[in-house]
Amino acid sequence: MALPGAAGPDPGELCRLAEAAAHEAGELLLRGLAGGPLAISTKSSARDLVTDLDRASEALIVRRLLAARPDDGVLAEEAGERPGPSGLRWIVDPLDGTGNYLRGTPMYAVSVAAEWWGEPVLGVVYDPSRRETFTAVRGSGAYLNGTPLSVSRRTALGEALLGTGFSRDPRIRTEQATTLGRLVNLVQDIRHSGSAALDLCWIAAGRLDVYYEADLRHWDRAAGELIAAEAGARVCGPHGGPATDDLVLAGPPALVEDLRAVLAHDETRTES
Ligand code: IPD
Ligand code: CA
Ligand code: CA
Repeated sequence: MALPGAAGPDPGELCRLAEAAAHEAGELLLRGLAGGPLAISTKSSARDLVTDLDRASEALIVRRLLAARPDDGVLAEEAGERPGPSGLRWIVDPLDGTGNYLRGTPMYAVSVAAEWWGEPVLGVVYDPSRRETFTAVRGSGAYLNGTPLSVSRRTALGEALLGTGFSRDPRIRTEQATTLGRLVNLVQDIRHSGSAALDLCWIAAGRLDVYYEADLRHWDRAAGELIAAEAGARVCGPHGGPATDDLVLAGPPALVEDLRAVLAHDETRTES
């Protein structure tokens, strides 16, 4: 597939570059766990943790990407925005699931996406604990270690395994708990993994049936959303438009529509 615009880069090549960088970073994270104690500090709040390995992973990925393509822009969680003139921007979450990682809980991942003039073109999520690589190039499907993925075939919310996560903002968390109180008896069961990137990939793989989360950041969701969408998921925001940091829903279209109706009901109640 060619990227829009005559002289766009080859997305397959970009994907291989992202995969190589994500693999190298993932192996670094594994070695970090096997090594001495991690240096842990807080960012925006006591719930927002960062380790020296988040930073080392990010530095490695950005170095690899820019060594190959020095004119690209990068939005990376720890270092922020670094503009570049090429039209291609990398979106990097060097360690999604830090709270799991620092406890040795094997539910964390490296996430790398690319946008061409603002349009998502590829996503790579690498889960080093399982050595699972999820990839998607826009228009070419989603893959797990090279095997094509497709979303769950379930269509009834009552049979669905629902994935979600909690915001770090205490006010939003309280609202989320109220909503979950309603949802818990409308779905088969609920999972909270602690890695939004893996949740979206697990939607792509049909390991979760439907997912929603509020108050994410672009780097949490950029790669996973494309991977889910390329596996056949409907990925949308609160009013059925594009997903936003405020809310992302993903899953088979019928489940997403039913879930959206439940969430909209709660939103209306909160506003009235
Ligand atoms: C977090 C994870 C988590 C989500 C949080 C994110 P981090 O990312 O994706 O699942 O619920 O909102 O911030 O901080 O581990 O990269
Ligand atoms: Ca994240
Ligand atoms: Ca992170």
